[in-house]
Amino acid sequence: MIDLRSDTCSRPTDAMREAMATAKVGDDVYSDDPTVKELEAVTARLLGKEDAVYMPTGTMTNQVGIRAHTQHGDAVLFEQSAHVYALEGGAPSAISGVLPRLLAGDRGRFTAEQVAEAVGSPHPFFPSTVTAPVTLLCAENTHNNGGGSVWALDQLTEVADSGRGLGLATHLDGARLWHATAATGIAEAEYASPFDTVSVCFSKALGAPVGSCLAGSKDMMDRARRFKQGFGGGFRQAGIIAAGALYALEHHRAQLPHTHTLAQRFARGLAQLDGIVIDPSAIETNIVRYRLDGVSSATFVDALHEAGVWMLPSRADGVRAVFYLDLTEPDVDSALATIAEVLPTIERLGLATATTGY
Ligand SMILES: Cc1ncc(COP(=O)(O)O)c(C=O)c1O
Repeated sequence: MIDLRSDTCSRPTDAMREAMATAKVGDDVYSDDPTVKELEAVTARLLGKEDAVYMPTGTMTNQVGIRAHTQHGDAVLFEQSAHVYALEGGAPSAISGVLPRLLAGDRGRFTAEQVAEAVGSPHPFFPSTVTAPVTLLCAENTHNNGGGSVWALDQLTEVADSGRGLGLATHLDGARLWHATAATGIAEAEYASPFDTVSVCFSKALGAPVGSCLAGSKDMMDRARRFKQGFGGGFRQAGIIAAGALYALEHHRAQLPHTHTLAQRFARGLAQLDGIVIDPSAIETNIVRYRLDGVSSATFVDALHEAGVWMLPSRADGVRAVFYLDLTEPDVDSALATIAEVLPTIERLGLATATTGY
C-alpha cells in the first residue's frame, strides 16, 4: 500500500526509535523531564520565542493557545477553512466558548483589509455591548486546506500587525511551518515573529510519532501550562516521545525539500492524465490537492484503495495526497500508474455528496 493520506502516516526510523529508547526521562507534570525541557528550549530558540510547551497534539497546542488568549464569549477571526476552526472537533466553541468570525481566504491566505473590516470600528450610535468583542486573530502557515500554500512573509506580517494594531492577540498554526522554511529559506523565527503564540508539529512530515509545541512569551507559556494540564495534557515520562521530536528536528528538518520534490513529480504526472484537473505550479510544498473531472472523489479513492494507493477525498470531486520522508520517487511513479489504470474504469455518474474538507 502506498499511503498518501497524510504526512502523519510517516513512521519513526530505527535511529529515531533508538534515540527514544535511550532517552533520559523524568515527570513532565513536575517539570523535571530533561528531554521534554530540552525539546521545549530548542523549539523556543528555533521560533525566536522565550519559551515553549510540549503537548501531545497540534490540536491541543492550537486549542490551548486559543483558550489562553480569550475569555468565553469573545469572537475570534479564523480563515474559513483553517484547521484550527474546521478540523478540530468544534473545540474553539466547545472548549473556549468563543464565537468564530470567518474570513474568506485565497488558499488560506487573507489580507490586512479583511481583518480590519471584520473587526469594524465603533460608532457612538451603536452600543459596543451588543457584539462579541474580537480578541484573537489566527492564521495558518503552511495552509493544509489551501494545498500546502505558503504565506508571503510581507503579507503575513501585515495581517498580524493589523490585528495587533486593532488590539487583537495573534496565533499562528504552524503545524507545517517547517515546510514554509524549506520552500523559501525564510527562517521559522521570521514567520513566527509577528505572532504572540505559534504552534508547531513534530508528528507530520518531520516523522516523529507524537507531539507539538506551543511557543510564546514566558508569561503566556506559564498560562498555557495551566490549560495543558486542565485539558488532560500532563503526560509524565514524555521524554520518550520528546526524544523522537528532537531527533526529527536535528536529522529530518533539513530533508523536507525531498517531500516537495516528490509532490512536484506527482503533480506534473497527474497533469498528463485525462480527467484530472490540476495546476502543478500551484504546488508549493508537500501537499497536492487536485480535482476530478465529473467523477466522485469518494468512488475514486475507494477504487484506488482497492488497487493499493491510499488518498483522502475532499469535497465532492477533490482529492488530497500528502508526501513525507518515507516515500520515494518509485512510489510516486507507481501511484501515478495506478491512477492512470483506475480512473478510466470509474463511471461518470455525477458527483456524490461532498465529504469533509480534509
Ligand atoms: C494545519 C494543521 N494544524 C493542526 C493540526 C492538528 O494536529 P494533530 O493531528 O497533531 O492534532 C493538523 C493536523 O493535520 C494540521 O494539518
